[in-house]
Amino acid sequence: MEKKRILSGMRPTGRLHLGNLVGALSNWRALQDDYQCFFMVADYHALMSEYEKPVGLFDNTREVVLDWIACGLDPERSVIFRQSDVPAHAELHLVLSCYTPLGWLERCPTYKEQMQQITERDLTNYAFLGYPCLQAADIILYQAHVVPVGEDQLPHLELAREIVRRFNNLVGRQVFPEPQGKLTQSPRLLGLDRRKMSKSYGNQIDIADDEETVSKKIMTMITDPLRVRLKDPGHPDDCNVCQWYKVFSPAEYDAIADQCRNSKWGCTDCKKRLAAVVNELLAEPRAKRKVLAADPDAVEKILTRGAEQARARAAETMREVFSLTGLGKKP
Ligand code: TRP
Ligand code: SF4
Repeated sequence: MEKKRILSGMRPTGRLHLGNLVGALSNWRALQDDYQCFFMVADYHALMSEYEKPVGLFDNTREVVLDWIACGLDPERSVIFRQSDVPAHAELHLVLSCYTPLGWLERCPTYKEQMQQITERDLTNYAFLGYPCLQAADIILYQAHVVPVGEDQLPHLELAREIVRRFNNLVGRQVFPEPQGKLTQSPRLLGLDRRKMSKSYGNQIDIADDEETVSKKIMTMITDPLRVRLKDPGHPDDCNVCQWYKVFSPAEYDAIADQCRNSKWGCTDCKKRLAAVVNELLAEPRAKRKVLAADPDAVEKILTRGAEQARARAAETMREVFSLTGLGKKP
């Protein structure tokens, strides 16, 4: 039986971090076993907010793909491609924009939130309002059944479903499957300073960081503020270091927490051990990344092949869209 299709994407904002690895990437890696996967670098989506300084997108796309492959996305099994290499994204976006009432976009909670919160960039452009409409096009183009996303993307997925429904109703045929969102299960992993892990806070560990950098960064982690001296009993539940053990070495968690509560070891030793654990986890991705990065053409080769596969699938959908909407030559 033909495998169900998955599509997901990320905007190319540069190197990915441990939070991306334990969240989206480890889920995506596992999904490759059961689905035909399309993984897309959403550079058009990035341009909608980065248009003032756009050229970083080239390098950022490369970094993202290096991290993807390093973390186990497999170009032999999955289609790994760049959105702008497949012009049909822009075409379908335009068609779907005819079927998307303005009010739906204006009411979208992520749009309202970003308009309020992001003050350092001007997001009052025409394209940004249509962000979810392009995202719907991304999904429909491959007629994806399932879309793994983080919680922040659920409103976009709901909109995509509504757009599909409206399109199907107006053309009078159930042409496109309504995509199901699949909420990515990700453990709670805070940044080095206990805020949300994010490049914009500079509190992250990158997948590409070398061993020494990882160890140094972990040594700066904020620990239990009540534990000043070695003999003070610690509170592992309130210590971010211990919470990282829960994510990266769950089997050890109870023993580590016990050593902390009963002052059997100090925070320096505790962090050194954690650094070893994280470095072990990153060893394979780091090695893979290094090999791939050493070949200047490797990423573009993967993207070229992915684009060919994606274009072929997208062309089938566009033929159907054209014939249903009266565009192009009468079939
Ligand atoms: N908007 C998504 C994000 O910022 C990226 C994305 C673009 C996407 N197109 C998509 C995700 C289609 C899922 C499906 O994370
Ligand atoms: Fe945190 Fe470890 Fe120190 Fe306990 S021993 S407070 S878990 S760093």
